[in-house]
Amino acid sequence: MEKTRILVTGGTGYIGSHTVVELINAGYEPIIIDNLSNSNIDVLEGIKAITGVAPIFENIDCKDYTSLDRFFEKYPDIKAIINFAASKAVGESVEKPLLYYRNNLLSLINLVELMRKYKIDNFVFSSSCTVYGQADELPVTENTPIKPATSPYGSTKQMSETILSDSVNAYPNMKCILLRYFNPIGAHPSAEIGELPNGIPNNLLPYVTQTAAGIRERLRVFGNDYDTPDGSCIRDYINVVDLAKAHVNAVQRLVEQKNKKSIEIFNLGTGRGVSVLEIIRTFEKATGVNVPYEIAPRRDGDITQVWADSSLANTELGWKAETSLEETLLSAWNWEMRLKEKREAASK
Ligand code: UD1
Repeated sequence: MEKTRILVTGGTGYIGSHTVVELINAGYEPIIIDNLSNSNIDVLEGIKAITGVAPIFENIDCKDYTSLDRFFEKYPDIKAIINFAASKAVGESVEKPLLYYRNNLLSLINLVELMRKYKIDNFVFSSSCTVYGQADELPVTENTPIKPATSPYGSTKQMSETILSDSVNAYPNMKCILLRYFNPIGAHPSAEIGELPNGIPNNLLPYVTQTAAGIRERLRVFGNDYDTPDGSCIRDYINVVDLAKAHVNAVQRLVEQKNKKSIEIFNLGTGRGVSVLEIIRTFEKATGVNVPYEIAPRRDGDITQVWADSSLANTELGWKAETSLEETLLSAWNWEMRLKEKREAASK
């Protein structure tokens, strides 16, 4: 039987690559588009090592309408698109806002236009808990009010949600699922794929693993004077493989027409808030490796705390975060060790 083809834009990226693996495991045929602006072609080997399958890959920039058009002409039988192709560094977006608006919005508009042209009805979008800002009540549900964005990155996520909601209203066949991720961390348990931060990491987990590995001298904990039990910020850290599996459920829901509305929104988190200091302690316990750290001033734009109510995803998507924090942190560490091996092998 022919496998159902799913386009994964940004499929060599962090969350994209883990999703490609889970799509293959679930019997789909993912096709990857990526311009490799923030990922590496070697990721394809990692995917093959895990699944035994080398997915079709096309080096295309989703901002380039003409190349995308040619792509859809070449692969006319795509049943759904999962769109990961976007820039995601909050700080960089403040320095280079136009880059963010161009990358994140133009790519989305091109994809939606071409899905109309090629009669593809189903779209899954990578959104973020950043749309909630510092919510007045926790945990946040999908009905928690959206706060004004605090960065161009956050603006692009809010605008993308609006673009999709307006498109679904205008185009009767189009169906869309918006997935609002909390803080994705960890790596595939095989350590064949994981996060590949460019240069000095902005996000907490890659900084923790690089510090533990001796690449960075010490982690800076941005603030211990927040109004939280230990004074450090609280987030909802979600295992990347668990997160990837939610995309398979979303695709299935759309392809099998089990969606209840033409646009649906789901929070993807664990429902548990964990502080920065707890992350360090749990990492040390799970791996037995010390993480030198110091308390530093608060980081601009950080909110105090956020965690998800994911009960809608539990009941409607049939999805639940399953992996423990310890296991997730250990997977991040094993991936860091794999990167070290690769660096050493390359320098020989
Ligand atoms: C932010 C966005 C999220 C986005 C992600 C992508 C919000 C609320 N969240 O996540 O939507 O998808 O960036 O990059 O806007 N920390 C340290 N030291 C470090 C690094 C981080 O203490 O060296 C702390 C931060 O202050 C924060 C926590 O660790 O409290 C997590 O930070 P990070 O991993 O950067 O993610 P967010 O800022 O939560």
